[in-house]
Amino acid sequence: MSMTHSRIRRLSQLFIVGMALAVSGCGATPPASFRANLVEATKQRLTPDQEKQVATILEAMFGTPDRPCVLPETGLDVAKLRLAAGPVRSDIVGRKNGLYREHCAHCHGITGDGLGPTAAFLNPYPRDYRPGVFKFKSTERADKPTHDDLVRILHNGIPGTSMPSFALLSETQVDALAEYVKYLAMRGETELALMRAFFELDDADQGKLPETREFLVGETLAVVADRWKAAADAAIPVPQMPADIDLAASIAKGRELFYGDKANCVKCHGPTALGDGQANDYDDWNKPIVEWKKELAGTEDRAWASRATGVLAGDALTPRTIPPRNLRHGIYRGGRRPLDLYYRIHAGINGAPMPAAKGTIAPEDIWHIVNYVRSLPYELDGELGVDRPMVARDRF
Ligand code: HEC
Ligand code: HEC
Repeated sequence: MSMTHSRIRRLSQLFIVGMALAVSGCGATPPASFRANLVEATKQRLTPDQEKQVATILEAMFGTPDRPCVLPETGLDVAKLRLAAGPVRSDIVGRKNGLYREHCAHCHGITGDGLGPTAAFLNPYPRDYRPGVFKFKSTERADKPTHDDLVRILHNGIPGTSMPSFALLSETQVDALAEYVKYLAMRGETELALMRAFFELDDADQGKLPETREFLVGETLAVVADRWKAAADAAIPVPQMPADIDLAASIAKGRELFYGDKANCVKCHGPTALGDGQANDYDDWNKPIVEWKKELAGTEDRAWASRATGVLAGDALTPRTIPPRNLRHGIYRGGRRPLDLYYRIHAGINGAPMPAAKGTIAPEDIWHIVNYVRSLPYELDGELGVDRPMVARDRF
């Protein structure tokens, strides 16, 4: 078969890049590229041509890891993105660039797919930003985090996990990194939307996505971007904790709610609150992999199953369950302020099985649960007894 026009163009581009490298001497590495979401592409049974179409559209919309570009619809600030993107280097005035690759990519991956070289060794795994799901935020469960939520996470890190604090970076740097996380998430969400759109094509489309602005921007990118913009108006309303609250009474009330049918915290966190309740569930990142593996085991389509098995080996980590937290350690991933716990209990933890108490528990009563949870590391007369030596050992 003769080479297609685009392949010839690609080869000649590579040749030009090669020449540039030859001129710049040794030490130059080839430009970084984003990895395609092969799990989704294989699930959607995309053809190589369709995968290529998605890659071309994404590059036109978002640029490359070395040179990000964005459309105004995203609301993203390209100057901030450029500070975070690209190889680690200093610019003409000595300002550090390439912050994401220096500080984040070994865990979260250049693409933000959570597949950096360190990822497989960590538990929990580093976050895959591509579905655009974030856990620790001040907004309602299904909403995006605000920019400030991301800045706070970067500042504090995620205690009890490998995610470090970046408090030593300057405000400008943290701000640029938060912007870059949004960029990678929006890019990943757009990729998912495009890959899923093939499913809705009709015969007239001949297996190709429409390349109109109306479809690409209006129906795809803008939908993703608007969800990010809406975060600013999705703040969880928090009633004041009464200043004259009787702490002992509040803790007792919270304890009742914790073990009661409505909040039912005990179902997962267990009668001892050590996280020994239901512990065989998966989060929203691992669950689809577990389910897909089951589907593949039962499929008749051997060729597809074997391709999928290869993709899973290279582009997905071994699924892990998400245990409910041991609440007696006093380590809170999303922050240890009473307000942080209020957010967690009100909205649940997006992407994790922990449900929202919103709608079930009155807003003021959530404060009682917060007070009870905060007392748990110090509670000496709980459900624990001398007949539970395992439990006792874990506590002290
Ligand atoms: C040593 C590995 C590691 C490094 C380095 C790292 N992270 Fe993480 N990060 C994690 C892990 C693990 C999680 C998931 C924690 C969880 O799910 O509870 C995470 C989660 C996150 C989240 C999700 C927070 C949420 O609310 O859901 C963001 C955002 C994030 N990291 C950004 C960054 C950025 C930006 C950098 C670089 C400045 C970075 N991380 C560096 C391991 C790392
Ligand atoms: C369906 C199971 C389930 C129920 C019900 C549940 N949780 Fe959780 N909870 C979890 C899981 C799983 C995690 C760990 C999430 C993670 O690691 O991201 C968690 C984490 C937490 C955390 C840690 C937050 C942090 O920042 O680290 C707190 C606090 C918590 N739960 C309190 C509660 C309270 C209070 C209730 C009842 C109102 C409750 N949970 C109900 C499953 C549950």
